[in-house]
Amino acid sequence: MKKRTALGITLFGLAVHSQAVFAAEELNVVCSAEQSWCDLMVAGFEEQTGVEVAMVRKSTGEALAQVRAESKNPKIDVWWGGTGDPHLIAASEGLTQASGVDTTDLLGWSVNLSNISDGKTVGIYAGALGLAYNSELLSEKNMKAPACWKDLVDVQYAGEIQVANPNSSGTAYTELATFVQLFGEDEAFSLLADIGKNVNQYTKSGSAPSKAAGRGETAISIGFMHDMVKLASSGFPLVIVAPCEGTGYEVGAVSIIDKAKNLESAKKWVQYSLDPATQSRSVEVGAYQVPSNSKSTVAPESPDLATIKLIDYDFATYGSTDTRERLLSRWDADVKNAPKN
Ligand code: F6P
Repeated sequence: MKKRTALGITLFGLAVHSQAVFAAEELNVVCSAEQSWCDLMVAGFEEQTGVEVAMVRKSTGEALAQVRAESKNPKIDVWWGGTGDPHLIAASEGLTQASGVDTTDLLGWSVNLSNISDGKTVGIYAGALGLAYNSELLSEKNMKAPACWKDLVDVQYAGEIQVANPNSSGTAYTELATFVQLFGEDEAFSLLADIGKNVNQYTKSGSAPSKAAGRGETAISIGFMHDMVKLASSGFPLVIVAPCEGTGYEVGAVSIIDKAKNLESAKKWVQYSLDPATQSRSVEVGAYQVPSNSKSTVAPESPDLATIKLIDYDFATYGSTDTRERLLSRWDADVKNAPKN
């Protein structure tokens, strides 16, 4: 065996020391927005901070399930994107921690999430729920255009409607909570079960039904209007409808996971994601949600929330564990497993 000289030991010590000093900072992100936006966020953050990011994309309900499952030893540092209710639930279950971010320039609906959660989550964007139909398919099949939620029970739409499963998808949970707030719980479930007779598939992700409608695989989709706008502006024959009864909306959120191993990088990410320069870049990937920072640029394509008949969505109630668990169990029993005729 070689004898280590005093100089050798000193150099070895130096090497270990400099490795510790210069080791790249890391960050593990679960992203619940569209893949292209997640990728843009990661690239921009890495470039600006030098922090190395590992990112996975998961629908909002699935991300909540992962955060819950890993609560003792989290692999994720920060959860970015996805609808606000599951972020609020994670906060109330002690699965996330306050970021301490300055909310001065943020819009009211964004700060509302922060207030409900004692700063453990904060709004990054907002978007309204709606319907879309494939105009070519509709006229080919001689179907009338739907204008209201209640129109969707019509037998002419048998097998023609697609929507996500609220267990995995934040979009579909927003729809479920919207129906309950618009019609009351019993009527909401009977309406969802009746619409369910016309549903051809409950997808995992919330934007999948509108993509399918764009491709002509289903005539009608339920989802967020900004996702529909992206498809329509890329040339798919989709017509977007704000339902006549009114509709709900999401406030997309960002949260730092409790016991995050890379806390400083996670705080940098939260700051980065609320920065107007970052938020204004969302148009590069056709993400047309309304940004939460009052200084960010709103894309002309973004659905104007002021012109849509929006309900006063109760985030505190529908972002609570009890309400979500109860509504999901009832959805499984009354809607998912309801007979088709
Ligand atoms: O980015 C697309 C988007 O519609 C977001 O606005 C929303 O927060 C997210 O998808 C919800 O995805 P999912 O329904 O799959 O949880």
